Amino acid sequence: MSKKRYTGNWESVNQHEVPKWYDDCKFGIFIHWGIYSVPAFAPHTWELGEVDSKEWFADNPYAEWYYNSLNIGKGPTYEHHIETYGKDFKYEDFIPMWKAENWNPAQWAELFKEAGAQYVVLTTKHHDGFCLYPSKYTDFNCVKMGPKKDITGELTKAVRDAGLRMGLYYSGLIDWQFANDPIYEDDDLFGTASPTFAYADYSYNQMMELVDNYEPSVFWNDIGWPKQSEEAMPYFLAHYYNKVEEGVVNDRFNDRYHDFLTKEYKSGKVDRTNKWEMCRGMGLSFGYNANEGDDKLISVPDLIALLVATVANNGNLLLNIGPKADGTIPEEQVKRLKILGAWLNVNGEGIYGTRCSDRESEILENGVELHYTQKDGNLNVFAVGLKEGENEFVIKGYRGELRPFEKAVEMETEACPDGLKVRIKNYREDFYTVGMTSAK
Ligand code: GLC
Repeated sequence: MSKKRYTGNWESVNQHEVPKWYDDCKFGIFIHWGIYSVPAFAPHTWELGEVDSKEWFADNPYAEWYYNSLNIGKGPTYEHHIETYGKDFKYEDFIPMWKAENWNPAQWAELFKEAGAQYVVLTTKHHDGFCLYPSKYTDFNCVKMGPKKDITGELTKAVRDAGLRMGLYYSGLIDWQFANDPIYEDDDLFGTASPTFAYADYSYNQMMELVDNYEPSVFWNDIGWPKQSEEAMPYFLAHYYNKVEEGVVNDRFNDRYHDFLTKEYKSGKVDRTNKWEMCRGMGLSFGYNANEGDDKLISVPDLIALLVATVANNGNLLLNIGPKADGTIPEEQVKRLKILGAWLNVNGEGIYGTRCSDRESEILENGVELHYTQKDGNLNVFAVGLKEGENEFVIKGYRGELRPFEKAVEMETEACPDGLKVRIKNYREDFYTVGMTSAK
C-alpha cells in the first residue's frame, strides 16, 4: 500500500488518525530544561486548574515561568529574585550560568528506558524564546549561548539509540522575545503574548525547521497558534504528517485540531472516548524548582496509581522531569523513575499495548480502587489502595480466573454469586498497585 499523502487543507488533515504506536506506548517523559533551570525557583502553591487565572499568574508555581513572574513586579518570585540577585540582575544574565557541564544525554536516555518510558518530549523552545537547538532564525539558542551544545540534536540521537521515540515541544503561541508585556491572566495568552505578524512567520518557520531537522514522532505544541497565521495550520500539519509518517500532535491548536487531548494537573477535559495524555511535573512545576524537595513531590504509590488510572481510561502519562542547570536529574526525581520502572517491569504486560476495558474504573466500599485494561481477550485488573496484610474484594460479574503479575503476591480466588472473589493474603507496601491478569 502506498504511503498516504496529505494536502494542506482541513479536509485532508482531518483524516489523520492517532498512530497505533502512540496508543500502545502509554508512558513518556516530558523534559523542561532551560535558562529558568538556573534560578530554579517558584512558590509551591497549587495545581493548574485549582485557582482562577488572575490568582495563578501572580503566584505561579511553574518555575519555567520565572521570566513572567519576575516581570509582574511583585509576588514570591520577584521578591526572591531581588533578594538573591539584586534588582539590576536580568533574566538574560542567567544564560552564561546555564552550562550543562555534567550533561550526559546517553545516561538520560538509559534512565528513561529503565523507567519504562517509551517516548520522550523535550522543550525545544519554551515561552522565554530561548531555543534548545541551533535555529537558523535566531542566535538566541543553546549552541550560540549558555550550554554551547545542540541539546535537541544530541538528545534526539541518544533517545533513538536507546530504542525510544523522540518528540518535541514548541511554545507556539507565546514567545517573550516578541512581546515583553507580562501575562497577568488567561485572556493575555491570546492577546498580548505574541501580537505581531513577524512572530507568526518566525514561529511557522521554526516549527517547519524542527520537523525537517529532527522528524519528531510527537509534535507537542503549547498554548496555541498565532492568529495571524492560523490559515497556515493545515499546511504545517500536512507537511508534518507527510514527513513523519508516524507523527502525532496534541490539542493546543486553537481548538481547531487535535490527534490526542491533553490534561495538565486539574486542567483539561478528557474522557475514555478520545485518546488523551496526562502531563504533569512530579511537584507543582515543570521546570526544576529547588524549593520542592522529596516531601513536596508526588508519592510513589500516587504516581503508580496515576499511571494505572490514566491508562485504564484511554490516556498516556507524560511524566515531567526538571533537570538541574548542570545537566543532572535531581535524585528525588531519579528515585521515582526507577521505582516506576521496576513496577512496570513486573506489571507492564497489563499496561503496554492494552486498550480500555468495557469495565470502568470503580471505587469499592472499603476505598480500594479497581482499574481495568484489556489485550488480546485478556482482562487485566489493578487494585490500588490495599492495606498491609490480607485484603478481599470481588470482581463483579467476572466468571474467569486471575493471577497476579508479581510472583511474591499470595493470592486466592473463588467463584461467588457476584463474580470472582479475590483474596490477597500478603499485601506489602512495596507492591504498590497489585496487577492481575486472566492470561494463562
Ligand atoms: C503550560 C505551561 C507550561 C508547561 C506546559 C506543559 O501551558 O505554560 O509552562 O510547559 O503547559 O503542559
